[in-house]
Amino acid sequence: MNFVDIIEKKKKNIELSTQEIYWVVNSFVNNSLKDYQMSAFNMAVWFNGMSTKEIASFTQAMIDSGITYDLSEVKGLIADKHSTGGIGDKTSLIFSPLVAKFGVKVAKLSGRGLGQTGGTIDKLESCPGWTGEISDHRFKEILNEIGISIMSQSSQVVPADKKLYALRDVTGTVDSIPLIASSIMSKKLVIPANSIILDVKMGSGAFMKDLDKAVELSKTMIGIGKEHNRNVSVMITNMDKPLGRAIGNAIEVKEAWDTLNGNGPSDLEELCVTAAGLTLVQNEVFKDLKTAKEELLKVLKDKSAAHLLKDFIEAQNGNFDVIIDYDKNFSTKHVIEVFAQKEGYVSFVSADQLGYLSMYLGAGRATKEEEIDFSAGIYLNKTTNEFVKKGEVIMTLYTNRDNVESFKQKAEELILIKDKKENEELILKLLTS
Ligand code: URA
Repeated sequence: MNFVDIIEKKKKNIELSTQEIYWVVNSFVNNSLKDYQMSAFNMAVWFNGMSTKEIASFTQAMIDSGITYDLSEVKGLIADKHSTGGIGDKTSLIFSPLVAKFGVKVAKLSGRGLGQTGGTIDKLESCPGWTGEISDHRFKEILNEIGISIMSQSSQVVPADKKLYALRDVTGTVDSIPLIASSIMSKKLVIPANSIILDVKMGSGAFMKDLDKAVELSKTMIGIGKEHNRNVSVMITNMDKPLGRAIGNAIEVKEAWDTLNGNGPSDLEELCVTAAGLTLVQNEVFKDLKTAKEELLKVLKDKSAAHLLKDFIEAQNGNFDVIIDYDKNFSTKHVIEVFAQKEGYVSFVSADQLGYLSMYLGAGRATKEEEIDFSAGIYLNKTTNEFVKKGEVIMTLYTNRDNVESFKQKAEELILIKDKKENEELILKLLTS
């Protein structure tokens, strides 16, 4: 095959055959297609999009570039979940016990955080000893014993996406719906889950800035799921504000634990109960979302799913007692309180900026090589739309780094006090296959 012919076709919006798409992906992975050629291909896709058939072939070619998992030894139904990335997003840690409590197993591959967004693997590693580097055999064993297991996504999973994403990132082609949809779904489809719930974030801190685009992305991913006989549901949720009050690592695991014990922030609880509810409806545990949510709220109230978070973390060698005794184990050299300069309703410049502040405090990495400080982070004593009086604490910063005045100033710059509340809808739309 000739790359120039393929790019000419894509440029003129002529549908590529499955063979041509496989050839592009395989040639890129084995380095016979150069970065500049693949960049031209990505840009042509950015302008002309892809047909449903092209997206299906592209996703399958990406999956076939790496390993897939056989979970036939795992008894019962399996669910998976993915979020397109949010600030303070510890949903998986609450969703998984809630779903497992009703007998549906949660098998997930997760990644680390980079930049302003945290990663589930980093959060879990704040429990000393916890590891996501487990064998396939152990993954299946834990799924059968506890009902939840989370593995670090290895470099053998969809290697084509890793290489492609790095290129898209530096060539202005990240925000293409077919490329995002195939990137996300290829990584989901390597796990043979019966159901997949996707949390597509929308707003200032997200890839999708408006609802129409978020719906288009969601429908594209549901379509890919259908091609692979997977039941995919999508929640489009607001990412103009952080989720819950805790941003960091150990502080987020603690908030997840509190939520499972009935003491979580209402937005986080609502999101987790909706995600778990949709999953339980997808797996026919409940007939409708309303019933599922009522039952899940009972479980939060009677705390009966909380132990599953502890059990799963311990099964993967983590010491969970440090979270139960949080204050003793995660103290920091500096505790910086940031006060309201006037009274009104709290708002933040953007959720993303709070993510960056948390990173500067030590909770995230600016480069892949940086080490994380599990104790660092932010607690929002007041969050979006809450009323604050002048002089009250809006947020508390935890850090072992010494630039106290600079952190305080940065935090003050992120706070906006408004005369009236903002639109605070959290779940903007639900879509099911
Ligand atoms: N997340 C992914 O995994 N891939 C994308 O392309 C965008 C977000």
